[in-house]
Amino acid sequence: MSDRVSLFEVGPRDGLQNEKEIVPTSSKIELIERLVRAGLQKVEATSFVNPKWIPQLADAVDVVEQVQREPGVQYSALVPNLRGLERARQTQIEEVAVFMSASEAHNKSNINKTIHETFPVLREVVEAAQADGMRVRGYVSTAFGCPYEGDVPLASVVRVTRELFDMGVYEVSIGDTIGVGTPNVVRERFAVLAAEFGAARLAGHFHDTRGTGLANVYAALEAGIRTFDSSIGGLGGCPYAPGASGNISTEDVVYMLQGMGLETGVSLEKLIEVGMFMEEVLGRPLPSRVLAAMKHTVKGECDNGYTAGKANA
Ligand code: HMG
Ligand code: MG
Repeated sequence: MSDRVSLFEVGPRDGLQNEKEIVPTSSKIELIERLVRAGLQKVEATSFVNPKWIPQLADAVDVVEQVQREPGVQYSALVPNLRGLERARQTQIEEVAVFMSASEAHNKSNINKTIHETFPVLREVVEAAQADGMRVRGYVSTAFGCPYEGDVPLASVVRVTRELFDMGVYEVSIGDTIGVGTPNVVRERFAVLAAEFGAARLAGHFHDTRGTGLANVYAALEAGIRTFDSSIGGLGGCPYAPGASGNISTEDVVYMLQGMGLETGVSLEKLIEVGMFMEEVLGRPLPSRVLAAMKHTVKGECDNGYTAGKANA
């Protein structure tokens, strides 16, 4: 195993898009800045989708414009079509992400098009973004199951992934949108995808709906995957996938990777502080287990601060 894992923080986008109460723009900006200070080098800051579909992220231009950018950090945002790209162009963002599903019914529900109709729309986004010098990432949703269709054939995942690479995206993030994957299936699917496209160009995007998120990260690591999407506090979900809950929490995945002796470049203690900040902003405890276990230590209330990786030291 290579000992370096790259985390792609999706909390400010996937994490917030499902929140009913509108979070103030200033809190979103502070969240992104704090995540970067904790050591995250890749942050999905927001989404330039239709604000009627995702009202929470209607302030995308303001968020990207106002965030204090740090050199060397990759800030990214979702873009579904040329209208979204036009809005992204009003900012200085250097990376965008296109997304679609491996199942027809979720694709239709999420972006109002069939899979076939989506390809040319995304292709023109990728071409136009690249012509502007932007990097483009891709997502394949419902890669392990669909809330409407159930099982999703691996062939559909491979097909959509291939189309995205053919368009010119630099990486495809394979999404378990509704958190139905189990480690055996994750290992098998990533082994096939890695043989076809190369493990270094793939990422794992696991929602932890049924508690298999971290086990799925472990299985994907075994298949050679070294980039994972995660969300501070375990926030997240897709409003167009019934029952979809939070992403794997960044705190939990950092704790596990550290314990396994894998490098993330992220400070767990600072992450806990970011998680605590988001609990304050949202006014409720977040699902992260490591956040729950460690916040009292960070607050200095008690010392149960077991540090992952001690056994390796
Ligand atoms: P549509 O309604 O079919 O769009 O939506 P349209 O092209 O027919 O346009 C209708 C109106 O919307 C027009 O305005 C457009 O200008 C406007 P009008 O002429 O009526 O005044 N419009 C926009 N305005 C602002 N920004 C835009 C934009 N596009 C159109 N970008 C569309 C199609 C794709 C836009 C819509 O379905 C949409 O925004 N969907 C996004 C839903 C979403 O964000 N879902 C969550 C993200 S995906 C996810 O969470 C999964 C992931 O995490 C991976 C995983 O977990 O698997 C990535
Ligand atoms: Mg997601």
